[in-house]
Amino acid sequence: MAELLLIGIAQLATPRAGPQRGAAMREITVLKGAALLIRDGRIAWVGPERDAPAAARVRDLGGRAVTPALVDPHTHAVWAGDRLADFEARAAGVGYETLLARGGGIRSTVRATAEARVEALVTLARPRLRALRGSGAATVEVKSGYGLTPEAELRSLRAIRALRAAFELRPTLLVHVPPTEGREAYLQGVCEVLIPEVAREGLAEAVDVFCEREAFSVEESRALLTAAQRAGLKVKLHADQFHALGGVELACELGALSVDHLEASGPAQIAALAASETVATLLPGVTLHLGLPAAPGRELIDAGACVAVGTDLNPGSSPLFSAQLALALAVRLNRLTPAEALTACTVNAAHALGLADRGALAPGQRADLLVLEGPAWLELPYTLGRNPVREVYTALTP
Ligand code: NIG
Ligand code: FE
Repeated sequence: MAELLLIGIAQLATPRAGPQRGAAMREITVLKGAALLIRDGRIAWVGPERDAPAAARVRDLGGRAVTPALVDPHTHAVWAGDRLADFEARAAGVGYETLLARGGGIRSTVRATAEARVEALVTLARPRLRALRGSGAATVEVKSGYGLTPEAELRSLRAIRALRAAFELRPTLLVHVPPTEGREAYLQGVCEVLIPEVAREGLAEAVDVFCEREAFSVEESRALLTAAQRAGLKVKLHADQFHALGGVELACELGALSVDHLEASGPAQIAALAASETVATLLPGVTLHLGLPAAPGRELIDAGACVAVGTDLNPGSSPLFSAQLALALAVRLNRLTPAEALTACTVNAAHALGLADRGALAPGQRADLLVLEGPAWLELPYTLGRNPVREVYTALTP
């Protein structure tokens, strides 16, 4: 039996286990002078240090803060090439959607990624995932989506599978942009061949679609997501990044795990999310990098929605390699309180992946936790541009 008691915890901050919505997102527990017992990769006990049970091994953290490890519920960490020319063009005033409509943007990353071999994709993704983990993310969702052809999408998903030997990843098939020719045949092939094949091989747990004017319509998204559900896969959606086309309403109707972006969402979409089980995932890195309006995080929580936050790590709209910084930006840009941001990046982000066993420091949960550099947990939402995370414990840490 592997047992480890952590003592010397100046502050232990945690949301309650399970998804939290509305005002409950602010109801975190902050314990001073705490201890935490890990047994076989799970949390066995949490409480005041003076009441701590005896344990085979004890480690004194010397007066540091401890929080649950973060969950990053939205990344596109597998890509080849770069988007540096896009970045320069956008700084000179060319819009993200204009670049995409001209055959650049996502399409230029597709050209670079589609030809790459699995091994090359693994080599490129590994340091990105290391950076995310170092920033506090013990669990990371990773999407395909830069392959376009079924063969290239399968290569990206195989790269994600290979990376799962070293990282706790949850793979998603993303149907990102339509081909420039043969759109109908493409959609039919994805629904009838690619999705069933991905489900059969266990290469993804969910299917995601980019529902947007320059990508897929609401009706095309519906066809793709219902094909995914028929194949036994979960669904999620990129919606309302630039235009509120009805993707949020579709995601809620289909019982999607999450609907992500929401920069263009208004009162009707906020009300739909507040009335549904679908998680509203905010991606503040996109607001920062593309200069888009911030998604209405404050309004979503005040309406009673379940809100999560992710990095959206990708080369075009969010080159954000830190889950801690995504959390910190959600406070500034989406107007979450620090406590709400912690909940959004832990239990609610886990729920956006269909996971209930992580995100809180409570008995029975996975022992995925962060030791911060200093004694106050607020350093996590407060710090910009320096990593306040000293150590990431995962259930797999011996
Ligand atoms: O989540 N918006 C669509 N997909 C990604 C961006 C991909 C890219 O620009 O390469 C996103 O923002
Ligand atoms: Fe994305």
